[in-house]
Amino acid sequence: MTTTIEVGMLGLGTVGSGVVERLTRSAAKIEQTQGIRLHLAAVAVNHLNAPRTVQLPIGTRLTDSLTNVVCDRKIQLVIEVMGTVATAKKAIVAALNQGKAVVTANKDLIATAGPELAALAKKQGCDLFYEASVAGGIPILRTLTDSYVTDNVQAVSGIINGTANYMLSAMATGQSYEQALATAQATGYAEADPTNDVAGIDAAYKLMILSRFAFGQELSLPQIAPTGITHLSASVCRLAAENGWQIKLLAQIQRHGSGLYCRVAPVAVPVDQPLSQINGVQNAVAVQSEAIGTSLYTGPGAGSTATANSVLNDVLVAAKHLINGYRMIRNQKRSVSLTVTRFDQLPQTYLGIGPVAPEAVKYYANEADFSVKTIADDCYQITGLSAVKRKKLRANLPLTLIPIAGTTDWKQVTENSITSPINVAI
Ligand SMILES: NC(=O)c1ccc[n+]([C@@H]2O[C@H](COP(=O)([O-])OP(=O)(O)OC[C@H]3O[C@@H](n4cnc5c(N)ncnc54)[C@H](OP(=O)(O)O)[C@@H]3O)[C@@H](O)[C@H]2O)c1
Repeated sequence: MTTTIEVGMLGLGTVGSGVVERLTRSAAKIEQTQGIRLHLAAVAVNHLNAPRTVQLPIGTRLTDSLTNVVCDRKIQLVIEVMGTVATAKKAIVAALNQGKAVVTANKDLIATAGPELAALAKKQGCDLFYEASVAGGIPILRTLTDSYVTDNVQAVSGIINGTANYMLSAMATGQSYEQALATAQATGYAEADPTNDVAGIDAAYKLMILSRFAFGQELSLPQIAPTGITHLSASVCRLAAENGWQIKLLAQIQRHGSGLYCRVAPVAVPVDQPLSQINGVQNAVAVQSEAIGTSLYTGPGAGSTATANSVLNDVLVAAKHLINGYRMIRNQKRSVSLTVTRFDQLPQTYLGIGPVAPEAVKYYANEADFSVKTIADDCYQITGLSAVKRKKLRANLPLTLIPIAGTTDWKQVTENSITSPINVAI
């Protein structure tokens, strides 16, 4: 027996078009294997007469009124793929208030208003899913929800901004920051205003969502205080690459005792570690857990088809719940309250790159009590650098200091720990 679910969609851009295409392609398979017919009743857009890359199914209503979709009594499930924060929030609130299930790809909204929307969804007994909001095509949120139930996640570390990763990969092969950004924009991998991507804000938003799923902990943007890639030069990336490290914009979160340590910043990843091999617009999320050890999930972090696939998987789960009358599934961990600290507050080993004579670095090493190893001309490995010493070194020498993955010195925090310290290089 086939049950029809009436679906409405807000947005018909990159992701929305992908949803229509995937829905059309997989309709027969979904009907055969799941017994569900997803009927796209209406789609809302901003510009009614703008040219479209996909053809809507016969009978699908195209409208420029969001209300026309979210207040349609027949529509049971709303897909929000239009972006924006305030407008999308208003539309999602309206849909949930009318008992509709909601699927969204909107990371900016979910990072900042996720708990509020989740509370409303719970109150209304509706599903609210947002798999596509983190790492596009990689089903990382559902994996964290379903596959780590009996396990204990210790750390999550990811390359979750394709634009920054594309630029860093290009800079490691010699392109300047400006060239890398221009190429990313010309190929559609960077937006006209790339601020959120290059400043680490987009990665921080996604880390906020990952933190809920991995640890049940809310994080704010000021707590993460992301460092982007704008201060990096091609020579820094190239020198690091020539000497055994790839610089990656890593988003990291790690449980340690009663504390949670987070970071969104460029990190030097040793070339023998899997994350160093994730290049271009690929995304990857490494999960360190008690039972499994390290598992790495890689795939396209954006793009029409891959992102739409994540959206559609959420749609199917919500559709099944609508049919079975089973809702209110917990789609993130029970909230906890851990002390949040940034990794950069702990001593660790840094890669120091810049036009500085070895004698000058050694002078400061003796004075401030840290050790230094010369790797190559203008390239140093500096061990045991605390936040205070780092500030002093930076104030006195023109070095770009990049933390080396997996070198945090946990000795200072072990007294409060209930778990043994691990250094998650990943
Ligand atoms: N692109 C990706 O690869 C990707 C990956 C993961 C997550 N996401 C997220 O998915 C969402 C959509 O991204 P996108 O790249 O598909 O955006 P997009 O290409 O810019 O498309 C946005 C769509 O929303 C419509 N829209 C915007 N404001 C509207 C309003 N007030 N009322 C009605 N329709 C409105 C636009 O209408 P018109 O076409 O008429 O202008 C357009 O069709 C965003 O939240 C984004 O962060 C995107």
